[in-house]
Amino acid sequence: MVFELKERDAAGRICSFRTPHGTVMTPHLLPVFNPNKMMITPKEMQQRFGMQVLITNSYIIYKDPVLRTKAMEHGVHTLLDFSGPIMTDSGTFQNYVYGDVTVDPLDIVRFQRDIGSDIGTILDIFGTPGQTMTDAEASVNETVARAAHSVPEKGPMSLACPVQGSVYPHLREQCARRLSALAADFFPIGGVVPLMENQRYADLVRCILAAKRGLDPSKPVHLFGCGHPMIFPLAVALGCDFFDSSAYAKYANDGRMMFPWGTEKLDGLSELPCCCPICSTYTAKELHNLEAKEQIVQLALHNLYVSFAELKTIRAAIHGGWLWELVEQRAAVNPALMDALRVLREPAHLEWLEHVEPASRTTALFYTGPQTIYRPALYRYHQRLFSRYHPCCSTTVVFPEGTKPYSFFYAQQHRQIASQMHATCVVYSSLGPVPFELDEMYPLAQSVFPETVDGDTQHVAQHLMEQFLVGKTVISSGEIHTVPTEKPLRKTIDSDHQRISAVADMQFGYGASAALFTGPLRIIKSKKTGKIRNVLCNGQHVVSMRAEDGCFTLKLQGGQCLHTHLPSPLLRVVVADDAVPFIREGKSVFAKFVTDCDPALRPYDECLIVDTDDTLLGVGRTLLARDEMLAFRQGVAVKTRESIPS
Ligand code: GUN
Ligand code: ZN
Repeated sequence: MVFELKERDAAGRICSFRTPHGTVMTPHLLPVFNPNKMMITPKEMQQRFGMQVLITNSYIIYKDPVLRTKAMEHGVHTLLDFSGPIMTDSGTFQNYVYGDVTVDPLDIVRFQRDIGSDIGTILDIFGTPGQTMTDAEASVNETVARAAHSVPEKGPMSLACPVQGSVYPHLREQCARRLSALAADFFPIGGVVPLMENQRYADLVRCILAAKRGLDPSKPVHLFGCGHPMIFPLAVALGCDFFDSSAYAKYANDGRMMFPWGTEKLDGLSELPCCCPICSTYTAKELHNLEAKEQIVQLALHNLYVSFAELKTIRAAIHGGWLWELVEQRAAVNPALMDALRVLREPAHLEWLEHVEPASRTTALFYTGPQTIYRPALYRYHQRLFSRYHPCCSTTVVFPEGTKPYSFFYAQQHRQIASQMHATCVVYSSLGPVPFELDEMYPLAQSVFPETVDGDTQHVAQHLMEQFLVGKTVISSGEIHTVPTEKPLRKTIDSDHQRISAVADMQFGYGASAALFTGPLRIIKSKKTGKIRNVLCNGQHVVSMRAEDGCFTLKLQGGQCLHTHLPSPLLRVVVADDAVPFIREGKSVFAKFVTDCDPALRPYDECLIVDTDDTLLGVGRTLLARDEMLAFRQGVAVKTRESIPS
């Protein structure tokens, strides 16, 4: 099994997952096939939906003498007539529903291996939401013990070990950590079906986050039994890679149709609110009038079209950098999902989400409602504003919201103020305080908010503004007279200098501007836009400012300054000795060669590449967070931009 991260957004990711029967692009849905009753064949699913992997239940095959013999003789791929990757489950869920599973936990793992399953599942203990903490702990202990005993039996098969722990986050996290320490390959989050059936999405989110915290970030995560597309965006944004669906068939059996916004009874629809091939072929009435069995098949197909379409939307959102927008929009359709989103406002969760949040995006941050102000990118901005930004002067002029970027909008007043007094200029925006010198940085200029925002956002912005102004001499911009003073200041503050210093400190950490800009500066601006492009210090090109996100790209000379003046581990990615010659040739840093990394580095951050003696090898841009760099065995950790030949 090879699992490699290709693209990312929020805590979601597009990964390639290579199995002996083919490669799957995640996030992906595994439709559940019951070998006894296949209403749609795997081949048809492959053709219609691009299904790349499916799941079936090995316990059903094991219990049925005919199926069992066929599977043992010809393999599960022949049994299902599918040549792509097949995952098998173990009977845990049957035991939870019917309570009559008698198979030995190791026998069922060996059986899955012997029938050629690509991903087999241990016989875990389904931890129900109603369990006491003591019972949940016992289920976790037994699940971990079974996992430990199952690993040596897995053979060439990948082994899935579900994370249990009921609704107790500390047990979920502990279970995840213990399972991650074993040589398991795949981590479903188990025991969550009852939470989903009862729309307890807030608890579901707590379960996912707790599990993710404890899991090896380089392994695939599956949300076991989640087949409703309404949940997919949020679950992906929290780091789930796989889903499985028997819901498509169960709902169809009940005359119910799935949509991204929920479920509709066919009988209640006068028109089909969908353009899938099924809904384009039939009217609601025609679908309603179909013979029962045929109706079920058509509804199942519709349910699968909608489910696979939602995953396409999610992958497009990850690629485009608008996954949070999608999550918030989708959550607005269901109050229980809104409660689930609210869980993400808790500081501990925000902190975890922030650690994998991309440093920047190519698309703007769009406001969708009261949750937007709690996005990890804005949380990061607020945190850094108070830890990395140090205003030049205590006197602070506060401007009302204006057009972005603010320093352009208020350019005239800004010049006037600069000539009259030493003051920090800040906009009281819906995002919170925005000092002029930071206004081009992602996500400040690259955000679209309505003129009037909701009360939650106003409250957050106000709170941050008050905090920002503590101890300052505050002047409202309206109080600044429009006539120039007679005696202009002799030494005015250079706003370009102020901007590059503030951006460097926000981006690289407080102290970075002093490390980068140590001598005479030359700031080169775009003739067309007037924006800062390149910064030279002592005649050396140290950084370029990107037009898209107002952040710096580090040049080798700049890297050398930061390396000299900032102590290890700051901004460093440390590579093993064997990788050094490759980095020196300009090759990218593969995750498996990373031995350490500054914990403050985030995906898409500029970084210094050093060897184990802290010798600078080059500069580049990270693709992974520290814990991911240290866990992944495949893929690129840092894209090298410039390197120092030996
Ligand atoms: N299917 C749905 N939930 C679960 C679970 O917790 N464990 C297993 N093995 N299968 C499941
Ligand atoms: Zn449809």
